[in-house]
Amino acid sequence: MTDPQTLERVTIPRLRKSKADGEKIVMLTAYDYPSARVLDAVGVDILLVGDSLAMVVLGHENTLSVTMDEMIHHTKAVCRGRKRALVVGDMPYLSYHIDRRESLTNAGRFIKEAGADAVKLEGGRKRCDLIKALIDCEIPVMGHIGLTPQSVNALGGFKVQGKTARAADELVKDALAVQEAGAFSLVLEGIPDELAEIITGEVSIPTIGIGAGPACDGQVLVFHDMLGLYESYVPKFVRRYEDLHGKITAAVSRYIDDVREGSFPSQSESYHASSKTREKLERKYHQRQESQ
Ligand code: KIV
Repeated sequence: MTDPQTLERVTIPRLRKSKADGEKIVMLTAYDYPSARVLDAVGVDILLVGDSLAMVVLGHENTLSVTMDEMIHHTKAVCRGRKRALVVGDMPYLSYHIDRRESLTNAGRFIKEAGADAVKLEGGRKRCDLIKALIDCEIPVMGHIGLTPQSVNALGGFKVQGKTARAADELVKDALAVQEAGAFSLVLEGIPDELAEIITGEVSIPTIGIGAGPACDGQVLVFHDMLGLYESYVPKFVRRYEDLHGKITAAVSRYIDDVREGSFPSQSESYHASSKTREKLERKYHQRQESQ
């Protein structure tokens, strides 16, 4: 979208312009400082500190158990690593479902404590009052509809949504309502590409797709999925750009061999005493060891 070398910050108005200009928006998840630095420097527009953290980093079965404190901890690290990308903090399950005041406080923590630029939350029409309240507090919101992983139990699994004409209509209504409530962008997850194309045409805010086909205004993938670091489950929509699991396995196997056969560390990878100190040490310790 922008030249990463110019360090021009990605802003919400800039994302709106990208949609108007037909420039695709690139979003990836990030959970820590080193990956945020790489993704930011190479030109990713939006870093999403996704609640997928629960699965791909913390090893949980689904996204439901990650806490606010864990999300804030990782969002802080990502913010320390970015210079130009927009950082979005994903509100975890039950951090915005119970009490309005608590929801606003939790969202505010992403901005005030962690340094994120916006928050993301899942759900359509039923979240619109909250989205309006967040925007009243100057907290920009990214919506998320379709396959919403926090509803995994209600949906009966990670299943494609909006497959019938009626279900598709409901999602179009959700998209329009989320836009009307003031969201600056909308993630469309796990829906037929024809429906994603309709929604993208109906709303003026940028849509970011994951498992929603090519017509969206941008795309997002989970970092560990696209780089082959998360083996447990690979959805159909993931394109694997690298096999980091294989690469790490090969590199660490070489390290194990080198340590076991004594070829690591080499002389050049070790610190050395001065010749004067060496002589003194040799005189004192080698003689003593020889006499034992
Ligand atoms: O948590 C996450 O990684 C997400 C993306 C899949 C959009 O919400």
